[in-house]
Amino acid sequence: MTVLVFGGNGQVGRELLRALAPLGRVVATTRSGTLPDGSACEVADFDRPGSLAALLDHVQPSVVVNAAAYTAVDRAEQEPEAAFRANAEAPGAIARWCAAHGVPLVHYSTDYVFDGQGNAPYREDAPTAPLGVYGSSKRDGEEAVRAAGGRHLIFRTAWVYAAHGSNFLRTMLRVGAERDQLRVVADQIGTPTPAALIADVTAQALRHPGGLSGTWHLTASGQTSWHGFAEAIFAEALATGVLAKAPAVEAIPSSEYPTPAKRPAWSVLDNRRLQQDFGIALPSWQDGLERVMAEIAAG
Ligand SMILES: NC(=O)c1ccc[n+]([C@@H]2O[C@H](COP(=O)([O-])OP(=O)(O)OC[C@H]3O[C@@H](n4cnc5c(N)ncnc54)[C@H](OP(=O)(O)O)[C@@H]3O)[C@@H](O)[C@H]2O)c1
Repeated sequence: MTVLVFGGNGQVGRELLRALAPLGRVVATTRSGTLPDGSACEVADFDRPGSLAALLDHVQPSVVVNAAAYTAVDRAEQEPEAAFRANAEAPGAIARWCAAHGVPLVHYSTDYVFDGQGNAPYREDAPTAPLGVYGSSKRDGEEAVRAAGGRHLIFRTAWVYAAHGSNFLRTMLRVGAERDQLRVVADQIGTPTPAALIADVTAQALRHPGGLSGTWHLTASGQTSWHGFAEAIFAEALATGVLAKAPAVEAIPSSEYPTPAKRPAWSVLDNRRLQQDFGIALPSWQDGLERVMAEIAAG
């Protein structure tokens, strides 16, 4: 089996290269043709969706996993064309190639397809109503993947972090080491989800014999605010020796931390369908944090 992973240097992409290795030959792509360890890989540029079919023809994958995306939520407000190209046009081109060749496609989407006005975990069939360009482009990407008509597994995830890459946990550890006091938003509620969990579940789903196609919510279990997550990060960092001292974390409303893109206030996704359909248990977000912090502590 040849598995083609788009975005091999992103948070989820890096974990996929590890998690999918037991399935067969894994071929990675990045924009530069180089992986974080310096080794060479295939080049895929989502700014040129028309170029992707030739790459797919060349690799002849038996499974495609798309972890590449334009993820700069605030910058997307100024660069909508780039966001829609990478998040909607490129996945559409990949999905059409996959459908034409009978190749299953795994694609990731986001809690930002919802407007965050709910107060119960969003089910997969809840109406989408993105608040900004990033969420709209990801919603269009989902629709393009479905419209292609092939077998697809769309996993909507949220609040992704890892021991590597650009994410909230790494930002907290960096600024927490420099400052005695931080102010963190407490009125956005969601579920911090390790990239490793997303990759491991993807591998399990691909091993599942059912040949299922559809959309599932793939997050850790439970919920917290960014403020709650920050406090848990610092408690765990102290417990594992990653930080010698922790800052005081003040809870603030989103109105005191304005950003170019509006974020959904309520981002909790109901992940029960994935657990039922694939027989997978999704651990708590606290469990995920412990694992990622242990990885950071181990160096
Ligand atoms: N991060 C989150 O909190 C979050 C939340 C919900 C859903 N998701 C979804 O989960 C998936 C994985 O996200 P992630 O956190 O792993 O993202 P990430 O760490 O930001 O990685 C994004 C990847 O996409 C690549 N990429 C961006 N623009 C590209 C382009 N024009 N052409 C080719 N490659 C391009 C990046 O390559 P470069 O390194 O070259 O830029 C990188 O490999 C995405 O579908 C994302 O929308 C993420």
